[in-house]
Amino acid sequence: MVTNNRGVSPAGPARIYAHIVGWGMAVPDQIMTNDDLALLVDTTDEWITQRTGIKQRRIAGETETTATLGLKAARRALDVADIMPETIDMVVVATSTPDHIFPSTASLIQAGLAANRAGAFDLSAACSGWVYAVQMAAQAIQSGAIKTAVVIGAETMSRVLDWQDRGTCILFGDGAGAVVLQGSPNPGGVLSAVLRSDGTGGDVLGIPSVGTIDYVGDDVGLPELNGHKFSKMHMNGGETFKFATRVIGESVTQALEMANLTIRDVKLIIPHQANLRIINAAARSLKVDEGLFMCNLDKYGNTSAASIPIALVEAVEQGRLKQGDPVVFVGFGGGLTWASMVVRWGAPMPEAGAFKKQRRALTYSWARFRSRFARWTRQFNQTVNRVRPEQGRIERLRHRIDRKLP
Ligand code: COA
Repeated sequence: MVTNNRGVSPAGPARIYAHIVGWGMAVPDQIMTNDDLALLVDTTDEWITQRTGIKQRRIAGETETTATLGLKAARRALDVADIMPETIDMVVVATSTPDHIFPSTASLIQAGLAANRAGAFDLSAACSGWVYAVQMAAQAIQSGAIKTAVVIGAETMSRVLDWQDRGTCILFGDGAGAVVLQGSPNPGGVLSAVLRSDGTGGDVLGIPSVGTIDYVGDDVGLPELNGHKFSKMHMNGGETFKFATRVIGESVTQALEMANLTIRDVKLIIPHQANLRIINAAARSLKVDEGLFMCNLDKYGNTSAASIPIALVEAVEQGRLKQGDPVVFVGFGGGLTWASMVVRWGAPMPEAGAFKKQRRALTYSWARFRSRFARWTRQFNQTVNRVRPEQGRIERLRHRIDRKLP
């Protein structure tokens, strides 16, 4: 990624808008219903449906990871945008379940896309992460620093769930959603965003990871392991519920004010898909019909940072968004974090080009080969270099022994 002053003319900076020009999603094939869950923990389909609205969720297979799901979603988004991977300047992945601490999931996806000019990084803001990431990319585009970004929300929550804790394992699922953001002089795209955090609520929900300390004390005021399971999700459901219902209405109203719009202008709200009762409470607090909210959590459960882009893709497929419609994204989750964003939907849609699609497919095959070749070369060099100094040392030793040197 090379940043420059593109968009700045002698007459002053030309205004650049960040539009969503491509979208895609990927979920595992494997479905886990509420009845399946009732075989694992003491729960029922009736309880889960009444308290959450969730009926089923997708669970990653053995060869699926956050990166493989994110890569699939990103490739689909590139197909819709009909752009070549080499035009991408930035790949951002919002996730709480990265394949590794590093390399970032974004770097793995960048390699899989063969986005060879792109910078790549992961962003950690739990279920609000995708909205945060879109805002980071949009600001980079609006400033003229970059032109095209791929922003992905991807999760394999099934790998961090405590499958003995019926309070959490019933809620979550796996999946990925992605968008392509591109700069354009056409007014619209990302209009405003409110990104907020309250770290004092860090203990309300979390996943202790590699840096966690296991001591009881409040010297540094940081949340510690405190009896929670390493690398497994813990949550205070009631507190999360209260927090979510409070911040959605507040932050959506703020973001709309910043965009000089009111709730009456909004055509669709795409909230983080955590719980139907949270969404209904948010509709009451904003004094709007529940139908204004996109909702697909019955099919996928809570896919954390992936839930909003997955819901966006399905909203587009269902024809719920038209050119010029103001749409609101609102996320909330661990941190505590929350984020609202107003987008005016619609940049001119490119013609889908079969030729470019074939070129993309070839590029992806080449990327796969290149990654394997690079790995193989590194392994080969390591082996050779390991043997050579060792051989040299043995040779010198033999030389000394033969000549009976001290
Ligand atoms: N099946 C059956 N019973 C369950 C259960 C389950 N899966 N989970 C909890 N219960 C029981 C509890 O043990 C409790 O029993 P008790 O009354 O005998 O003690 C009872 O149901 C009520 O539990 P409670 O935790 O008060 O339920 P709730 O109405 O608050 O619903 C959540 C629990 C988790 C569904 C709800 O708090 C929630 O959705 N919170 C927000 C979570 C969220 O959105 N997290 C992600 C944010 S990004």
